[in-house]
Amino acid sequence: MEQKNNTTYAVDPIANRELAQQVVTILEKNKNKPGSLMVILNEVQSKIGFVSPQIQDFIANYIKIPVSKIHGVISFYSFYTTKPRGKHTIKFCTGTACYVGGSSQLVDKAKQLIGISLGDTTEDGNITMEETRCVGACSQAPVVVVDEVIHGRVKPSKIAQLIRKIDKKD
Ligand code: FES
Repeated sequence: MEQKNNTTYAVDPIANRELAQQVVTILEKNKNKPGSLMVILNEVQSKIGFVSPQIQDFIANYIKIPVSKIHGVISFYSFYTTKPRGKHTIKFCTGTACYVGGSSQLVDKAKQLIGISLGDTTEDGNITMEETRCVGACSQAPVVVVDEVIHGRVKPSKIAQLIRKIDKKD
C-alpha cells in the first residue's frame, strides 16, 4: 500500500521533486560520457544512497535503454542497493571459502539476534544485514564485514559482540 509519508519518498525519490531533480542533474551531466550508464548509476548510488526500481525505470526512460540492462548491472555488483541502507551495515561473505567455513551459521545467529533477514534494515534504521561475494580475505574465512571493516575467522559466538559494537557507535 502506498504510504503518504517520508518513507515513500525514501524508496521512490522520483515522487519527491527535489530528489528527482538530483537524478536529472546526474543524468544531464553524464548521459553523453563513454560508459555513461555505470557513471550515472555510481553517482546515483553515492548521492542518493540506493537505486530503487522507480529510479531504474526513470533512468532507462531518460537515456532510452531497456530497463533490463540496468537491472543486470544492479544485480551483478553488490555495491548497488535498491533500498536505503541503514546507518551501519553488517555483511556476510557467502563466497566458497566462507560458505565452507560456516557463514550460514553466522547469518542464522545474526538473524536471531537482530531480528531481520538478509537485505533488510532494522526499524530504527540502524543496521542493514547483507550478503556479499568474496571480499578477497579467504584465508580468514568465514568473514564478516562491519561498515567496511573485515572481521576474520568469526564464530557464531562472536556475532553478539560485533552487534554490541555497532550499537555503541554513533
Ligand atoms: S570467500 Fe569469503 S573472503 Fe573469499
